[in-house]
Amino acid sequence: MTRVTRRGLLLGGAAAGGAALGGAGLALAVRDGDASSSTAADEQATYPFEGEHQAGITTPVQRHLYFAAYDLTADATRDDLRTLLQDWTEAARHLVQGREIGETGAVGGSPLAPPEDTGEALNLGPNGLTVTFGLGPGLFDPDRLGLESGRPALFQPLPSFALELLDDAISGGDLCVQACANDPQVAVHAVRNLSRIGFGRAQIRWAQLGYGRTSSTTRDQATPRNLMGFKDGTRNIKADDTEDLARHVWSDGEGQEWFAGGTYLVTRKIQMLIESWDRAPLSEQEAIIGRDKGEGAPLSGGTEFTEPDFRAVSTATGEPAIPAESHIRLAHPDFNGGQRILRRGYNYVEGNNALGQISGGLFFISFQRSPKQFIDLQNALARDPLNEYIRHIGSALFAVPRGVRQGEYIAQDLFV
Ligand code: HEM
Repeated sequence: MTRVTRRGLLLGGAAAGGAALGGAGLALAVRDGDASSSTAADEQATYPFEGEHQAGITTPVQRHLYFAAYDLTADATRDDLRTLLQDWTEAARHLVQGREIGETGAVGGSPLAPPEDTGEALNLGPNGLTVTFGLGPGLFDPDRLGLESGRPALFQPLPSFALELLDDAISGGDLCVQACANDPQVAVHAVRNLSRIGFGRAQIRWAQLGYGRTSSTTRDQATPRNLMGFKDGTRNIKADDTEDLARHVWSDGEGQEWFAGGTYLVTRKIQMLIESWDRAPLSEQEAIIGRDKGEGAPLSGGTEFTEPDFRAVSTATGEPAIPAESHIRLAHPDFNGGQRILRRGYNYVEGNNALGQISGGLFFISFQRSPKQFIDLQNALARDPLNEYIRHIGSALFAVPRGVRQGEYIAQDLFV
């Protein structure tokens, strides 16, 4: 299918002489000879598309995101969905290796025809691209595509939550593509070309560009900061937390083979009232989060990875050192029936609004075995003092099918 590869020779050579593929979608960093340059390593990083689970979940979080939600066209059939997933899978297999789309790529075809690949990622490396596909709940509606019997029992649209101000135009969708890469152009290129492939079968409903990961999923990644200036992801589920992943992230399929080894993906576009936050005193900001801003340590003391002690009392005030209504206490598993989620969100900034304020915030993404984990947490966060500084304006839930083996396509068991 693919004629030309971006850095194909270099990558092929490095892979052949280098490491064996890691299991379960874990990293295979392919370096181009200069191990000291993290930029070169990031550019040449590749992650296998195939595996028990889809990549882009426990994969070390890349620097950039382009996330797109699609609706099937009104007259699309079950067969259109099936062939779309087949075509997308095939394209994604090539894209994650840094290859072009099609037989002739961006510059090799007839000058009288539009190029098969759009070309903006030519000469860029694979940049750790992962492409993660999800299915929306509406696909399983009765009298739509005949897929009712394939719906996992827990897969229902999210309920409404306190204080949210959702915009339908940036919520929901029949399908999603999460493209993460160390170069934003590589992520955009992937989505743009998948959209072209989908033409006539699916069209973009909404899309989101994200930068500056707000979570880490491996222990060797430094904890990044969100736009409120706090370290985010300290107590996230990490790629090597096998037990936690099995318990909180990977689904047993709920009786559906296509979903066994899959997971639910929630997106929430959370706008921050950044100027108001920036006027809040440091002590108030820290009390709201429950951690100190510099180190990210819990207010009960210690360093970033010290376990929070919710019984500790501040000697200065006689009150709990970590306020009972702080974000980390409200979201902590001890107060949520032991439930955890894997967070993998990104910052976003989209210019300013008419008042000159920054339009930006957190594009929250979480993966969990059941939507109930997110629902319970979000309900618990109704009391979160952070709500004074944030608004949830977009929301979506997708079922992410299990990963594929060679020759398979995403969600193929749904169509047997
Ligand atoms: C703009 C909105 C949000 C901001 C700024 C924010 C920020 C933070 C920060 C700074 C931490 C502490 C560091 C860490 O352990 O990662 C944290 C922890 C956490 N947050 Fe958020 N968060 C936001 C929204 C949410 C939402 C919507 C949820 C889920 C419904 C959530 C769930 C969690 C969880 C589960 C933890 C870890 C709790 C623990 O196990 O200690 N957060 N968040």
